[in-house]
Amino acid sequence: MFMDLDQKIYVAGHRGMVGSAIVRELIRTGYKNIITKTHAELDLTDQVSVKTFFERERPHQVYLAAAKVGGIHANNTFPAEFIYQNLMIEANVIHQAFNVRVKKLLFLGSSCIYPKLAPQPMAEDSLLTGKLEPTNEPYAIAKIAGIKLCESYNRQYGKSHGIDYRSVMPTNLYGPGDNYDLENSHVIPGLIRKIHEAKVAGIQEVIAWGDGTPSREFLFVDDMASASLFLMNLNQDVYIRMTEDRLSHINIGSSQEITIIELAKMIAVVIGYSGNLIFDTSRPNGAPRKLMDSSRINSMGWSPKINLKEGLYQTYKEFLTRPSIYK
Ligand SMILES: NC(=O)c1ccc[n+]([C@@H]2O[C@H](COP(=O)([O-])OP(=O)(O)OC[C@H]3O[C@@H](n4cnc5c(N)ncnc54)[C@H](OP(=O)(O)O)[C@@H]3O)[C@@H](O)[C@H]2O)c1
Repeated sequence: MFMDLDQKIYVAGHRGMVGSAIVRELIRTGYKNIITKTHAELDLTDQVSVKTFFERERPHQVYLAAAKVGGIHANNTFPAEFIYQNLMIEANVIHQAFNVRVKKLLFLGSSCIYPKLAPQPMAEDSLLTGKLEPTNEPYAIAKIAGIKLCESYNRQYGKSHGIDYRSVMPTNLYGPGDNYDLENSHVIPGLIRKIHEAKVAGIQEVIAWGDGTPSREFLFVDDMASASLFLMNLNQDVYIRMTEDRLSHINIGSSQEITIIELAKMIAVVIGYSGNLIFDTSRPNGAPRKLMDSSRINSMGWSPKINLKEGLYQTYKEFLTRPSIYK
């Protein structure tokens, strides 16, 4: 695997949880020429601005980690914003990257691209085999379009223009830079915030949603970033051999499952909370099991390094540096 550390690399969405982890990993690896723009400096839904930016910067590689993301409530309330903004970001970045002959691009998708009732663990070939989860269907459709944009540009221009655009579908991520908003957070940051606040306030009870029996898979975001660089730099022959013509995306997961009850107990240990964890069974559970099949990337030679407990300690350490609203 050859890495030219002088290449100019654009990370879109570098202030987000995933984008910031990719920047950390690029710096750690020794890349010297990383370019970033905040949302305020460059709105990626604006075609003209994106065109001007790419024509000026002409990067060698692009990591596309910018997206409009949100929880069930936001997805349900603003479906038009979710589908429009994500389609525009992907179409603008991928097309303008192509226009200035960016050779390599990595598009970040999500496990919500798979059908609601996909067999577990969810393999790459489950894509487009059934109905999506209705609450985030518009977002998922935009992410599927991103995969198909990469595939279609490769199919039409791969050989003639030497481009190689790839896509990755991460499982549930957590780590530094996560969102602790009470309305919009995922399960790990939600539990960290609730349990931490109970500890600080001396409250002996924390209430979690559902009966705690569903099992979920989690991956530390720095492992996701290492997988992203691994796949970006993987030899093209290996990538082509391990994927299919119209099934080119790669799952990235930890392959480790944990029930929500066990997760909550582990977070309580990490925080040092000795109160009771109560499960509110009147609240919905969600799917009983959600696990990605990561055997493709594992057989290419990548596996995660940071286990859940260690990742939770690192996450909580970063959480404690947040503004006082979270303490
Ligand atoms: N977090 C997870 O568990 C998870 C799991 C699987 C996949 N992923 C995928 O990973 C990607 C990044 O997720 P994340 O968790 O890092 O999200 P995030 O923390 O919300 O970061 C997204 C970034 O994109 C930027 N952005 C959004 N709209 C933009 C626009 N129009 N122009 C320029 N920048 C814009 C945001 O800037 P502002 O905040 O300023 O708008 C933000 O910095 C997404 O594609 C997501 O589907 C995440």
